[in-house]
Amino acid sequence: MTSRVAVGIAGTGSYAPPVVMTNHDFEKLVDTSDEWIVQRTGIKERHFAEAHQATSDLCLEAAKQALDAAKTKPEELDLIVLGTISPDFMLPSCAAILQSRLGAVNAGAFDVNAACTGFLTALHTGESFIAAGRARRVLVLGAECLSRYLNMKDRASCILFGDGAGAMVLAPHAETGRGEILRSTLGADGSGYEFIHMRGGGSRMPPTHESVDRGDHYITMRGREVFRFAVTRMSDLIAQMSEGFPREEVCLVVPHQVNARIIEAALERLDWPMDKCFVNIQKYGNTSAATVPMAFHEALEEGRIEKGKLVVFCAFGAGLTWGGTLLRW
Ligand code: UT7
Repeated sequence: MTSRVAVGIAGTGSYAPPVVMTNHDFEKLVDTSDEWIVQRTGIKERHFAEAHQATSDLCLEAAKQALDAAKTKPEELDLIVLGTISPDFMLPSCAAILQSRLGAVNAGAFDVNAACTGFLTALHTGESFIAAGRARRVLVLGAECLSRYLNMKDRASCILFGDGAGAMVLAPHAETGRGEILRSTLGADGSGYEFIHMRGGGSRMPPTHESVDRGDHYITMRGREVFRFAVTRMSDLIAQMSEGFPREEVCLVVPHQVNARIIEAALERLDWPMDKCFVNIQKYGNTSAATVPMAFHEALEEGRIEKGKLVVFCAFGAGLTWGGTLLRW
């Protein structure tokens, strides 16, 4: 049996597309207000892709940054794993398109669909490949163009989501010298699959004129039920990932940017201070699989990640699915 290779983070990248949609823009579309959205979610604005952009375009920008930061050439990549629920096409994978556009000629590529847990699922997968000695350099991403799946007449859901991409290059920790992944967990409970759902377009309900007219190809959500699940799950994941370490060792929790109230309630349950938690939902809304890598990149840029200290990632979403990661910077 070969021994496990410790895995670290070599570089990160983040990209938000240029169209900024403020809460006031939504006031013109649905019966809502800036005040309601800020109070109930913490969101002030979100970015939407331009008409010509799709998810692989957002990935490309974030991936180039991560590769530059990692001083890694595309041809050095062995694997690309992309968490997304909004690929360019139903077929083939968005990761395959990205592989070609990057010129990652030696890399395998596939998407994972775990909704808002997509990035942590990609991270867990990429880490496992390197740990098992099956790859040396892996590009992992979380990216979405959710604006394409929003029902702009449903005020309870359309105000929440945004578009964006975050990327990381993983490599053996012996080479990166930072970002060692110490722990990861993934979980699922598919009995809650209808909580956050897109009914149309799959093999259960292939697209028809009628299904499109009914709006079955939009994201629907049972917000209040998700809220309750999210608070408990987020606090449990933070507790599980940081268990056994003194709290002072953790410099930052980087949670899924789902709703500022959910994050606050989860931290309150743990008596965890808000200043040890990174929140940027006010600028991007919920970008599903992209929230954690975008937030981590921004936290790094802002100098919030201290050398030698621990960082906790946690996310949950449709499926239902959830995941957590603990790393030492
Ligand atoms: O990544 C996972 C994806 N899922 C989520 O992010 C969802 C998590 N859930 C949430 O973030 C919250 O449940 C929401 C933000 C979706 C809703 O907040 P809430 O505090 O749970 O509100 P609510 O659903 O209990 O609705 C309260 C009221 C309702 O009106 P009535 O029935 O009391 O008259 C809603 O119709 O607020 C109304 N409402 C709105 N009002 C103004 C719902 N959306 C809006 C809106 N503007 N955009």
